Amino acid sequence: MKYSNVKGTHDILKDEQRGYDYIETVFETIAANFCFDKIETPMMEYTDVFARGVGEGSDVVRKEMYTFLDKAGRSVTLRPEYTAGIVRMVISNKMYGNLNSPLKFSYFGPLFRYERPQLGRYREFHQFGVECIGNINYTNDAEVISMASIMLEALGLKKVTVKINTLGGMETRANYKKALVDYFSAHIDKMCDDCNERLKLNPLRILDCKDPNDQEIIAGAPKITDYLTKEDKKAFKETKALLKLLDVKYKVDTSLVRGLDYYSNTIFEFHFVSRKGVDYGAIGGGGHYSNLVKDLGGPELEGVGFSFGIERLYSLLVDNNILKEDKLGVNLYFMPLSQNEVSIALSLANYFRACGYRSEVALNKFKLAANLKEAERRNTDFAIIVAEEELHHESVVVKEMINQQQTIVEIKDLLTFFDKIYQVDRNEDNCHCHEEGHECHCHDDDNDDIN
Ligand code: HAM
Repeated sequence: MKYSNVKGTHDILKDEQRGYDYIETVFETIAANFCFDKIETPMMEYTDVFARGVGEGSDVVRKEMYTFLDKAGRSVTLRPEYTAGIVRMVISNKMYGNLNSPLKFSYFGPLFRYERPQLGRYREFHQFGVECIGNINYTNDAEVISMASIMLEALGLKKVTVKINTLGGMETRANYKKALVDYFSAHIDKMCDDCNERLKLNPLRILDCKDPNDQEIIAGAPKITDYLTKEDKKAFKETKALLKLLDVKYKVDTSLVRGLDYYSNTIFEFHFVSRKGVDYGAIGGGGHYSNLVKDLGGPELEGVGFSFGIERLYSLLVDNNILKEDKLGVNLYFMPLSQNEVSIALSLANYFRACGYRSEVALNKFKLAANLKEAERRNTDFAIIVAEEELHHESVVVKEMINQQQTIVEIKDLLTFFDKIYQVDRNEDNCHCHEEGHECHCHDDDNDDIN
């Protein structure tokens, strides 16, 4: 029997994992500087959290959720997105007890959507995102959009298009939905089955339909800009003015509606097209949500947030040579020449790991030529040959891989030897050997106890 990974999932191998870690570190550092705290919510929630939160009319809830009954017959769902779960977390933990300033969270983790797998679209994927929840207004929206732009720039992405639009408040959306129902009702018999259902559940979702036949009809639909109340127009104008002051280069796209039902007022997406014209689609998106907290049983608080898709971000960074492949090499490769030297090689490696060197021990073969080849393949700085002959003199052979130069070094001098080359300053304050329960030898005059 041959097993493969589940359709739409993918193994994240080491270079890609390092890329994800890098992206996460860059984003998290910036989020922390904006005073967002990292949190994590469970990977599954009761289904209602998403059904009510994301909306019964959305494709995510209608078609894409991994939902099942647990052994007690409760319906649970693997999270298809973070926002509804985070709002549930705020309510469950009554985090709004004393809201003098908004709650600010960042997150990174896997999500699950039963979508048709294709380039940049998986059934298990990862997001980094933030949510800002409290007594907030359009200024928080602008701050969050500007933070997202700063994050993308920090990754080296300069040519990202920031699309923004507004869905207005309740009154605007009620009037707009009515206008859409009037318009689409006249065309619905020529539209796909999905759109027929969307018309009943949420006519706004018809605007997301990708069916080329329907798109012609959609192009003639009323535009939300014609239905904005005076208040909503003013709020959007103020948001745009603030974005300008914050130096965010946005484009207003009146056809942008986003696929989740909880949005109101400002919504936004980040798009990237490479120099060669490859369109990576939305690498992230978000918006303001005025009713989600209340809809999930909480008080009248509003929120704004966004999420970046890590798979899309990583592949566009690699494809466009922005994220240089960073293959982590080995600093020190210890090579015992027989079983007799294995324990010395292992304790030397442990000692050097504790001193901060990436160290490897060749444990499976004692063939010097093969191990040197492997060291080369592993991008090693130094091979350390641990052989009986030199051990008699409490020494090892150090071979610098780049120039093949060999030196015999006494074990007691080995740390100083490498520290000099790697320019490690091991005065008391900088020494980390005391950490992780290792005995420190850095300041000893003799290093007998590692022999
Ligand atoms: P979303 O637009 O559904 O928004 O997803 C955000 C990003 O996740 C997308 O722009 C895309 O890069 C990535 N993404 C979505 N689906 C897939 C998939 N199947 N495969 C790979 N990547 C994918 C949200 O999830 C909202 N919760 C964002 C938000 C936060 N709004 C307010 N706060």
